[in-house]
Amino acid sequence: MAEHDDVTGLTDLEASAELARLAEEITRHNTLYHGEDAPEISDAAFDALVKRNAQLEAAFPHLVRADTPSKKVGAAPKSGFTKQAHRVPMLSLGNAFDDDDAHEFDARIRRFLSLADEEPVAYSVEPKIDGLSINLRYENGRFTQAVTRGDGQEGEDVTANVSTIRDIPEKLAGDAPDVVEVRGEIFINKADFIALNEKQAAAGEKVFANPRNAAAGSLRQKDSSITASRPLKFFAYASGEIAESVAETHSGYLAQLSAWGFVVNPMSALCPTMDDALLQYRRIGEARAELDYDIDGVVYKVDRHDWQARLGQVSRSPRWAIAHKFPAEKATTVLEGIDIQVGRTGALTPVARLKPVTVGGVVVSNATLHNEDYIIEKGIKIGDHVTIQRAGDVIPQVLDVVLDKRPDHAEDFTFPDTCPACGNPARRPEGEAVRRCTGELSCPAQAVERLKHFVSRDAFDIEGLGAKLVEELHRDGLLTAPADIFTLPEKTALLAEREGWGALSADNLADAINQRRQIDLDRVIYGLGIRQIGQATAKLLARHYLNVDNLLNAADAARDFDGDAWDDLTRIDQIGDSVAGDLVRFLTDAANITAIRDLLSHITPIEPEAVEEDSPVSGKTVVFTGTLARMSRAEAKARAESLGAKVAGSVSAKTHLVVVGADAGSKARKAQELGVEILTEDEWLALIGG
Ligand code: IVH
Repeated sequence: MAEHDDVTGLTDLEASAELARLAEEITRHNTLYHGEDAPEISDAAFDALVKRNAQLEAAFPHLVRADTPSKKVGAAPKSGFTKQAHRVPMLSLGNAFDDDDAHEFDARIRRFLSLADEEPVAYSVEPKIDGLSINLRYENGRFTQAVTRGDGQEGEDVTANVSTIRDIPEKLAGDAPDVVEVRGEIFINKADFIALNEKQAAAGEKVFANPRNAAAGSLRQKDSSITASRPLKFFAYASGEIAESVAETHSGYLAQLSAWGFVVNPMSALCPTMDDALLQYRRIGEARAELDYDIDGVVYKVDRHDWQARLGQVSRSPRWAIAHKFPAEKATTVLEGIDIQVGRTGALTPVARLKPVTVGGVVVSNATLHNEDYIIEKGIKIGDHVTIQRAGDVIPQVLDVVLDKRPDHAEDFTFPDTCPACGNPARRPEGEAVRRCTGELSCPAQAVERLKHFVSRDAFDIEGLGAKLVEELHRDGLLTAPADIFTLPEKTALLAEREGWGALSADNLADAINQRRQIDLDRVIYGLGIRQIGQATAKLLARHYLNVDNLLNAADAARDFDGDAWDDLTRIDQIGDSVAGDLVRFLTDAANITAIRDLLSHITPIEPEAVEEDSPVSGKTVVFTGTLARMSRAEAKARAESLGAKVAGSVSAKTHLVVVGADAGSKARKAQELGVEILTEDEWLALIGG
């Protein structure tokens, strides 16, 4: 190992990074040794890792990890579960953080459905259980399969383990369709969690950081009898595939779930309006501390199934449901220093180094300070007492200074104007909050973060090539640009010599990399890590441009803001001037183009399929104008897009169809002038078959 022998010279940040790496390495070697009888390193080398871990833990007791290998015996479970695709994707939920967000959600739904003011939308309101979601399949009334959420598209088959959970019926009571998939949350009660940890600690076994982790660890056991010994519980709350409808409303469906023998959360309530839903939110919030299990908010679901169907989904969340989170938990501690982190896009972010403090059950020693101005606005000095807050999975943040407690030695912080990672100037464009390193592709901090993003789950998703290995390979000079990843399979001999590796690990990595030489175009675009280009936008770009050459040519042409290419780009739904600007800047930069061309010499992006190729409107540009009677503009647009049409805001010679509602004005006239086909709303509905 390259570490210095002495642990006392390390900073908290260095020590915690090393502890994280050791935890992973020791666990891996443990598994190889005990679980697979295939050790890759000598016993002495293994003992050295364990000793180093122990030294670090002794010197930095506040950094001891919940998953520390020093408390584990034997092998971690093999992750040998089979993958299973979900027949109906498992979606996630958007978030509301206050009453305004909840009202806005209600308003959005009403607009989408074009409801009259006096027509109420009833919501089913349920606690949001902090556990793991699962899909349970029943065929002819019998439990046949349980699959974890995974990435929403496919999860792991954990049937054997789930069948040990008492809350989950083996057989549905009463009549049921031939195929029924029930979804819900697997969790562990707070008291059971404490008892389980005591038992684990006494046996010298792994203790869990929180009930959610305990539930996850218990579910992913190789040996079902261990799962059976864990007090897992289940609440049912949603449907997957179902052969025929069993209810017209969500509340009706929950009643059916109870009748079939599932446990439905007793605090679930049908609320006739959003105001009532908010009252239920407060009731559940007040009961929260007394509940046996962890909840992190409530979920509002439109009760009527026909409305749910019309509302559909955006990206990965339904339009008809939202999670209203409980407020964040806060604490006060001392700001010991400020580190500057350089992100993937070169943004310099100030990170508070804090005296470790427990917030909502988790030890926090770092928190974000957002940006340069934030520190100035809040008048934050090093040595100050600060309040911090933690909300769910969000990074903890510094909220404010406790001025009464300011010590005499408190010091001002000067934000650096050079990048701490590469020494290049860090500039802050006028009007922007963020200072960025100008080193772009030559800055190691950016390179390594870009590579991590490139291999991340929603991008290239290369099995075995995680953040930690990217860092190591980058440090050792094997990886600097994305294309380098695809030369690794030629270097298996070199990889096999790495400490802790062997021929098998090197071959496995090479296989995983080779599997990604053919990859969906949108993953490639997303993987480039262009500012503001998230997954959804990458998909839109892929669908619009179909291949990288088209995209690069379009970006080049779009340098002319008055030209057609720019118009074409900004006409894509959700791509405004700012996003388009970042995209064009990135894709016209010479170094980036070289990196992309290099990458393309190793991979073949797969062209996306049109949404619905044979729909009568796929590929057509449609403009809606005037007031529609049968649906809102948003619904019309979503419907058209799902049929493969492109919805534009203005009529031009490139428009194929203009759909006119009542009181249509200039757009209808323009369509007439240009000879564009004009349809009434009814004609449009007849055309698309609905
Ligand atoms: S409904 C299409 N209801 O929250 C909506 N989810 O952020 C699917 N969750 O993955 C989810 N309690 O693990 C729903 N009463 C509840 C829930 C709940 C917890 C979790 C679930 C889901 C996540 C979404």
